[in-house]
Amino acid sequence: MITQELLGIGVIGVGRAGLVHAQNFAYNVPRARLVSVMDANDQRAQEVAASLGADYTTDLERFLQDPRIDAVCVTLPTFLHATVVEQVARAGKHILCEKPLALTPDEVLSMAAAVKTGRITFVMGFMRRFDSSFQRARQMISEGAIGQPIVIKSTGRGPGLPPSWAWDINLSNGMLGEVNSHDFDAVRWLLGSEYQNVYARGRNFKSYDVAKSYPNFYDNAVVLIEMESGAIGTVDGSCPADYGYDARIEVLGTEGVLFVGTTAENSVTVWTKPKGVRQSGVTSWKSLFREAYLAEDRHLVDCIWDNTPPLVGLEDGLRALEVVRAANYSIQSAQAEEVRRAELPK
Ligand SMILES: NC(=O)c1ccc[n+]([C@@H]2O[C@H](COP(=O)([O-])OP(=O)(O)OC[C@H]3O[C@@H](n4cnc5c(N)ncnc54)[C@H](O)[C@@H]3O)[C@@H](O)[C@H]2O)c1
Repeated sequence: MITQELLGIGVIGVGRAGLVHAQNFAYNVPRARLVSVMDANDQRAQEVAASLGADYTTDLERFLQDPRIDAVCVTLPTFLHATVVEQVARAGKHILCEKPLALTPDEVLSMAAAVKTGRITFVMGFMRRFDSSFQRARQMISEGAIGQPIVIKSTGRGPGLPPSWAWDINLSNGMLGEVNSHDFDAVRWLLGSEYQNVYARGRNFKSYDVAKSYPNFYDNAVVLIEMESGAIGTVDGSCPADYGYDARIEVLGTEGVLFVGTTAENSVTVWTKPKGVRQSGVTSWKSLFREAYLAEDRHLVDCIWDNTPPLVGLEDGLRALEVVRAANYSIQSAQAEEVRRAELPK
């Protein structure tokens, strides 16, 4: 039971993504306040807490016993999501968990059981679901603006290498998990259809040093997808793309085409004779999806206060995970792979 006027929020893992959420909860989410951050890195936890006027700890048990914390944002490396989400659920605290949800479907089934037993709200961190352009695209498609969707192309590219823990495919499901989970979720959501088959190729073109320690590491991949609706398409990923952060989708329908996403950081264009036309490209997911992360964090708080079901949850995280894993199998087998679906507890 929530006993305070403002919902108390804690953030576990205040690295790149955790800082974005912690800043939102500290300053920009109505009916909530940031209470405490937890991170294994004492210095990082201390710095983030001091900058946001929150408490900090490196002790997870202590953090979970803090009665001021009603809801927790889990922004740990992916291989820690399952165990920590289960611990948070057992402590009876509501959860927003960053993507990818977990490493395996079995982990998700355990997480789902803990969430169900804890009777808590669980929001899956697919921030594109809260982006106004993606929302508009979904609405237009479902209203029939382009007829029946038949071919979809989704591109997800990150400017730099992911954090070093993600280089090990066993701890992250590789770039398709770390970067393209968003694409896989967005395709399924925009089309309103489940995945049937995938055929994927992955190559390491640039990251030779990483491959010395992690021979399975790939920095580019293309996945051919076949949906139950009959639509076909591709998801492609690249990391490091060097030039910027690139998240764009094209949907071809029987009666038109729809494009989502931009390469421009802002609307300023400079045109001079010596340098020609110049425009700043999108540099980071933090800037492109700033408003979407905020809407996602507000959604968690609204769902808890208003007792409404989240727009995106465990099943969405599970479906994206299943297609990522099928694509990774396909890279290894060089065969098309069926995307099998696990059943979540009712
Ligand atoms: N939605 C998005 O667009 C988006 C963007 C970036 C990252 N992510 C996801 O967020 C998660 C975190 O990624 P990141 O890039 O912020 O990673 P990161 O490495 O920058 O941060 C992870 C933080 O967790 C801390 N940590 C590690 N082990 C810990 C432990 N056992 N206990 C407590 N703290 C621990 C680290 O000290 C670090 O501060 C990943 O699942 C990633 O895929 C999502």
